Amino acid sequence: MVDVVLDAQHLTKVYGARRGGEPVRALNDVSVSLERGRTLGIVGESGCGKSTLARLLVGLETPTSGDLRIDSRQIEAGGRGAARALARRIQLVFQDPFSSLDPRMTVEKVLHEVLTVHSLHEGARGARVSELLAMVGLSARFATRYPHELSGGQAQRVAIARALAVEPEIVVLDEPTSALDVSVRAEIINLLVRIQDELRLSYVFISHDLSMVRHISDDIAVMYLGRVVEQGRYDQVFVTPLHPYTVALADAIPVPDPRHERSRAAAGVASVALRTEAVAQGCAYAPRCALVQDRCRGAVPALSEKSEGHRVACFVALDESR
Ligand SMILES: Nc1ncnc2c1ncn2[C@@H]1O[C@H](COP(=O)(O)OP(=O)(O)O)[C@@H](O)[C@H]1O
Ligand code: SF4
Ligand SMILES: [Mg+2]
Repeated sequence: MVDVVLDAQHLTKVYGARRGGEPVRALNDVSVSLERGRTLGIVGESGCGKSTLARLLVGLETPTSGDLRIDSRQIEAGGRGAARALARRIQLVFQDPFSSLDPRMTVEKVLHEVLTVHSLHEGARGARVSELLAMVGLSARFATRYPHELSGGQAQRVAIARALAVEPEIVVLDEPTSALDVSVRAEIINLLVRIQDELRLSYVFISHDLSMVRHISDDIAVMYLGRVVEQGRYDQVFVTPLHPYTVALADAIPVPDPRHERSRAAAGVASVALRTEAVAQGCAYAPRCALVQDRCRGAVPALSEKSEGHRVACFVALDESR
């Protein structure tokens, strides 16, 4: 039986108009679910709504509409008590570790504070701090350091330790390696994989880079302008991509063969103008799609099953027999 730990159904988030602009539909009817002990990779270019989804999943923001469940129990918005209870189960790790760490607090103090807020390990917090540091591969001497005394990789390890301090079941990782030197990215990914195995955690791993999520994901959802356009198991999405956008993303992964480099341009950044409330008609990918047909401009393709567990939102991909 499939053991779903996190289930989001039809999440929509509309942000109020910024000065002179129109409201932004940052997330549009997004449904994703995460199986216990597995990793769901979310991929899509900058501005497609990944961080918005992350904030909704962990309860930092409330959806305009939609439904969120952890272990089949509905998450009700509101109240500090509810937020704290939710934080015990699901934690968020941000892209930039420095912006999420208080520059005036030592590593020890950061971790101590989390344990205190959640009334954990009373009387043994010092030992727990050392244990958390060891878990993320930092020696006890890091306890007395301030954020400015840490490298990017070390700071992200501290941020991960802080997330683990509450013993969550789920960790949402919002581009956790994007702000780090390329040389330390693999280290952090390996660390996350090891911790996941040890603690049987479930991850939502967000990245703008398909080559990043491929190393860690069991399942993948591809987002484009606020919607999920393709979804399935890692091999389905990665080996047999169906949506023209996923194909472009997959082709942009650096491979030794230079012939595969040409689609990089096709995976550039989409116009923000396309996502406003005024433009609700048609497939959002149409302006960039090489396969576009008349019908693509008249209606939004629904995310539909192509083969078992493999869903795509594209008229042409759904028609093709494969
Ligand atoms: N607080 C906000 N108010 C208004 N618009 C926002 C807000 N947060 C995000 N957006 C807009 O929502 C869209 C999705 O943003 P975001 O979720 O940060 O995307 P991503 O993480 O994929 O880059 C963008 O167009 C962004 O400008
Ligand atoms: S529905 Fe049409 S425009 Fe949209 S991705 Fe498919 S072929 Fe391209
Ligand atoms: Mg983001």
